[in-house]
Amino acid sequence: MSKKIHLFSQLELRSLHLKNRIVVSPMCQYKAVEGHIQDWHIAHHSRFALGGMALSFVEATGITPEGRITHGCTGIWHDNHVLGLKKIELEELAPTFYVTPHSGQFILGSHSRSY
Ligand SMILES: Cc1cc2nc3c(=O)[nH]c(=O)nc-3n(C[C@H](O)[C@H](O)[C@H](O)COP(=O)(O)O)c2cc1C
Repeated sequence: MSKKIHLFSQLELRSLHLKNRIVVSPMCQYKAVEGHIQDWHIAHHSRFALGGMALSFVEATGITPEGRITHGCTGIWHDNHVLGLKKIELEELAPTFYVTPHSGQFILGSHSRSY
């Protein structure tokens, strides 16, 4: 018989300790300006951390401007981006992971800002 795993049980992933098994999926917010996070992103991630989520994924964060999915996506191609992104890292509450795609021709070249 398989062992029952409880949603609120702790989990060790190598050196990462998660206080439970609730993880927030990455969700594009379309609110970044030139790749920089805004107050919105801090509020977005803080509410999950304060709500008790064990881990929060940051939205698709472009490694180059051209690699973003939309012009409103966060970026990490400049050191100043990192300074901003650090503001949403609440390690003591919930660690954050990043999705770093390169979208290629997927969207940026195909239409202008539509949001
Ligand atoms: C509005 C929205 C934005 C999303 N943004 C991202 C993203 O930035 N990066 C990513 O990897 N997945 C993104 N996803 C996909 C979600 O993280 C998730 O994988 C997907 O919604 C499937 O989740 P489910 O299996 O629980 O339905 C997004 C989904 C939605 C609905």
